[in-house]
Amino acid sequence: MLGKIAVVGAGNVGATAAQRIAEKNLARTVVMIDVVEGVPQGKALDQWQSGPIEGFDTRVVGFQTYDQAAGAELFVVTAGIARKPGMSRDDLVKTNAGIVRSVSEQIARVAPASIILVVSNPLDVMCYVAMKATGFPRERVIGMAGVLDTARYRMFLAEALDVSVEDIQAMVLGGHGDTMVPLISYTTVSGIPVAQLLDQPRLDAIVDRARNGGAEIVGFLKTGSAYYAPSAAAVQMVESIALDKKRILPCSAWLQGEFGLRDVFCGVPCKLGRGGLERIVEITLTDAERTALHTSAEAVRVTQKVVDG
Ligand code: LAC
Repeated sequence: MLGKIAVVGAGNVGATAAQRIAEKNLARTVVMIDVVEGVPQGKALDQWQSGPIEGFDTRVVGFQTYDQAAGAELFVVTAGIARKPGMSRDDLVKTNAGIVRSVSEQIARVAPASIILVVSNPLDVMCYVAMKATGFPRERVIGMAGVLDTARYRMFLAEALDVSVEDIQAMVLGGHGDTMVPLISYTTVSGIPVAQLLDQPRLDAIVDRARNGGAEIVGFLKTGSAYYAPSAAAVQMVESIALDKKRILPCSAWLQGEFGLRDVFCGVPCKLGRGGLERIVEITLTDAERTALHTSAEAVRVTQKVVDG
């Protein structure tokens, strides 16, 4: 258990993440921060009051400023605007880069030794903004996307196969965008390669639906984007860090030559523990997967340049 975890942004993703962190007893205190007056205070108090029923002792508190987050070991950054129907995640870049930059500067001021888990979109580029604004090493700036994309992919596979999702092992790499890379060659059902159980057209349809998983939900909600699965994905990463579980999860990381990629954030298999990003696991990819990973990384690089310009 950590002493203090701060969640920046008390919108749907942030507030749900705070609730999940408290319910899993991952920190003594959860601090929610949001610019909207009263919202983090109100949501935090409401969540704290669920503690006697849900059985957690985590204190949940909310503030407009960062001073109360001083010394937090981990920040989950969800601040920023969400997509509307028809928008891509990249359409958010200018607005959210400004927000994530100023949030990151505050984090570096009050908690210079902390780990930052970025959730704001466009995800991989917001990791870059946070790393640049804080000057933190790559071990302490990690992005949530692969766990979410993989959860969607696993859910659709479990549905198609009519088997427990517990038995679907898979990993989706690449940027959190239309070019994400579900690794069919590493997808197994209780150890059985998925290609033995589903034909290529059905697999292709599932890959496609997973890629568009976020947009499908934006299409339904119209005024916002997904938050139950995104918050669950972020908290799985929080848990691996807080409990030093050293899970191998697909996360956005600053690549320095791994997979032949350099100076770009992109989703790759990462070991997460108390030290943050403790290792990038370089796996063998088929030629097609490697090409797809590079294409995806190049798409991130284009948007990354927008925030440099
Ligand atoms: C999604 C948003 C959170 O994929 O990026 O739903």
